[in-house]
Amino acid sequence: RMVKRYMACRNDIHRHDAPFLAVYKSLIPAEEELEKQKQLMAKLDNLVAKEWPNAKLYLYGSCANSFGFPKSDIDVCLAIEDDDVNKPEMLLKLADILESNDLQNVQALTRARVPIVKLMDPVTEISCDICINNVLAVVNTKLLRDYSLIDVRLRQLAFIVKHWAKSRRVNETYQGTLSSYAYVLMCIHYLQQRSPPILPCLQEMEPTYSVRVDNIRCAYFDNVERLSTFGSSNRETIAELVWGFFNYWAYGHDYANTVVSVRTGSILGKREKDWTRRVGNDRHLICIEDPFETSHDLGRVVDKFSIRVLREEFERAAKIMHQDPNPSAKLFELY
Ligand code: GTP
Ligand code: MG
Repeated sequence: RMVKRYMACRNDIHRHDAPFLAVYKSLIPAEEELEKQKQLMAKLDNLVAKEWPNAKLYLYGSCANSFGFPKSDIDVCLAIEDDDVNKPEMLLKLADILESNDLQNVQALTRARVPIVKLMDPVTEISCDICINNVLAVVNTKLLRDYSLIDVRLRQLAFIVKHWAKSRRVNETYQGTLSSYAYVLMCIHYLQQRSPPILPCLQEMEPTYSVRVDNIRCAYFDNVERLSTFGSSNRETIAELVWGFFNYWAYGHDYANTVVSVRTGSILGKREKDWTRRVGNDRHLICIEDPFETSHDLGRVVDKFSIRVLREEFERAAKIMHQDPNPSAKLFELY
């Protein structure tokens, strides 16, 4: 009887595909917004090249990984190969240059965990953070974008999960909940685990792209246009995947013992990573391995209070997907 009810629920779920797709479409940024970002990048490129001819600017984060929402700030990395860059000095210099070229709200935060310069461009009305030599973020941005090109269901699922997380206020790392980057990795991992899989594990394939960053080898198969039919034997639709994703994080995941790993396309044991106990501020209450900085747990921000908030929100979402007549509205009700 349980199995029958479960199947009935799964068959019925397809009537929610159209409303979820409508939510997804409403979240995709307009083309002219991307144009404005390019325009601002060109301006910044120009200013930076004058002062540091061998520096290069890269977009990273949601404005470049294909998981960005409309009206997001953009994240920029200034990469410069120089053994003795003094970051604070350079950021102050950069702030000077920006200010004298009519950029507004310019602020150098030289003592932040990731030191940056903030600015607002009055022409495009885009706000922007610039950091120096955060090349790993540029590389993981490319990895996320490459995954998104393989199967559109990743972008659909991740937009819905991010929209849910923002609506429910569980996308606030300073409050102990998870970053957008962590949520996208959770979505990639979920789609790698489907059977048949919807996404491959690019880092386990023959590398076609390889860079060394801060002594970490970042290598994976990036000819993703060759993988455009990879997931086609799996016919699961967006409503089913949203349902399955929340069900997994509400009832299926073994929080006590396991780590989700996009790098290996599998679930690892906390033991093998030595993530079984609290070390400093890293409590490892929910474990998401960074695909390149493998000693880095993206769940490290989660503490004993916020883990409860998170798990209650996963359960709320799973229940809505099981029972609510209109999940595509209820899921995103503001907290
Ligand atoms: P929104 O701004 O919420 O739309 O999403 P976002 O994709 O910009 O995410 P977020 O602000 O969480 O992170 C920006 C980028 O910084 C990510 O795309 C990553 O490239 C990088 N990043 C964020 N957190 C980490 C982290 O803990 N470790 C590493 N290596 N990179 C991170
Ligand atoms: Mg961002």
